[in-house]
Amino acid sequence: MSLELRGISKSFGALLANDSIDLRVETGEIHAILGENGAGKSTLMNIVYGLVAPDKGEILVDDVVKNIKEPSDALASGIGMVHQHFMLVPVFTVAENIVLGHEKSGFAGILDLNEARERIKKVSDQFNFDVNPDDLIEGLPVGVQQRVEIIRALIYDAKVLILDEPTAVLTPQETDDLLKIMKQLKEDGTSIIFITHKLREVKAVADRITIIRRGKVVGTASPDASQNELASLMVGREVELAPDKGAHAIGDVVLKVEGLTIRDAVGRALVNNVNFEVKAGEVLAIAGVQGNGQSEVARSMVNLEEHVEGSIILDGSEVIGKSVRESLHAGIAFVPESRELDGLIGSMAIAENLILDLHDLPPYAKGIQMSPSVVLAEAEKRKEEFDIRLQSVNDPVSSLSGGNKQKVVLARELSRPVKLLVASQPTRGLDVGSIEFVHKRILEERDAGRAVLLFSTELDEVLALADRIAVMYRGEILAIVPSGVTAQELGLLMAGVVHA
Ligand SMILES: Nc1ncnc2c1ncn2[C@@H]1O[C@H](COP(=O)(O)OP(=O)(O)OP(=O)(O)O)[C@@H](O)[C@H]1O
Ligand SMILES: [Mg+2]
Repeated sequence: MSLELRGISKSFGALLANDSIDLRVETGEIHAILGENGAGKSTLMNIVYGLVAPDKGEILVDDVVKNIKEPSDALASGIGMVHQHFMLVPVFTVAENIVLGHEKSGFAGILDLNEARERIKKVSDQFNFDVNPDDLIEGLPVGVQQRVEIIRALIYDAKVLILDEPTAVLTPQETDDLLKIMKQLKEDGTSIIFITHKLREVKAVADRITIIRRGKVVGTASPDASQNELASLMVGREVELAPDKGAHAIGDVVLKVEGLTIRDAVGRALVNNVNFEVKAGEVLAIAGVQGNGQSEVARSMVNLEEHVEGSIILDGSEVIGKSVRESLHAGIAFVPESRELDGLIGSMAIAENLILDLHDLPPYAKGIQMSPSVVLAEAEKRKEEFDIRLQSVNDPVSSLSGGNKQKVVLARELSRPVKLLVASQPTRGLDVGSIEFVHKRILEERDAGRAVLLFSTELDEVLALADRIAVMYRGEILAIVPSGVTAQELGLLMAGVVHA
């Protein structure tokens, strides 16, 4: 099935998010869309899927104009979409979720549970999804949950599948599995629109690439183009894909973690007796496959975890037992792994989110009142510095594109005078130009004598920024290695393989 978009335009107030976009996806084609944060990719996909109404333009399926007003219209036309935030109910099984989705969509032909089970098994077997219809969602790894979402679309008979940044939350292994699945779907005749910021993935699977900048199609590229060529087409300038890490002085110990053990509600150790220290002017990266305890260690640095034993000494004083805000005020900048959960208040203005953890301190506050003019001036400054694409700093932060939300968190946390920067997946969802900028900023923090504790599942990022690398596996630190380690060695450690 082919999909064609003709002259799609969409404004949000004065901002032209999509400007007369033309795009054609052929039957059985993997069509990648590349573009900066805020370029208008998700808006365009939400229009195709009936979640956002365009101001102008037409959507054609197999050369016939379709009137798509809501997702059920899209599904009825054979268009399915997998969202980045999965819409699954954790306490239900795979099959129950798929039946539930059917009911909610208002799409014809409601399934019963047994029918759903059989169809799930059939699709799962056909494409090697390895999904069991009776498994509970909450026990499944993110990669499998995503396959459930794909199955849901396929069961609705989607012939065009929209994947908006599907790999952002996946481990490298899960990403490779997804890319394989995409190729199989393509062979089966499914057309796929694939949005990602990772150029390697585009090169691995795309048949054609369309590049969008500031709401406009600015060109197409072949997957044979080099990563550097693709990067500069996207952002309109040369991008340094690997930052320059100069020599620098390392100082005293800023953070000392000893015997850190973190348990879940029933007393199982998710993190088991972890020890490390970070010095001033040093980046210690904690690498590992997602789910090996890194998230818990990161959150414990600002007391977001319960059931913590051991000690976390920041500049001579114990952090454990403090409140979250006391920990931040003690001199920690914190970039959380989940910006939606721990980093931002969606309904509050961008300007307020930019100073969220400081709003009760001068110069923003006088007494208990926030000083609006100072808040606004600061927000404007950070918007420029971090190139946050927005219409007004007074808009709610929820109106920003995914990458621009991340930039708000970074702009706030990298603008504070602190002793320790804890950054979890700091570049998740960012475009290549923004990654370059954030990497430079993190190295500047290091060079200014800050201790940096970086949590990242991206090998390239770890190798580019770290002075030393601690690899976590099953709740423990398996090894701490110097930055000269190769990607292969690091990959083996992450898989739990240690040389004798
Ligand atoms: N509901 C909305 N209200 C106001 N502005 C919006 C809304 N939705 C999107 N925008 C704006 O439209 C522009 C395009 O956003 P979109 O989410 O499509 O970008 P994107 O290309 O998907 O970016 P990213 O790579 O960061 O996900 C952004 O400037 C965003 O702030
Ligand atoms: Mg987006």
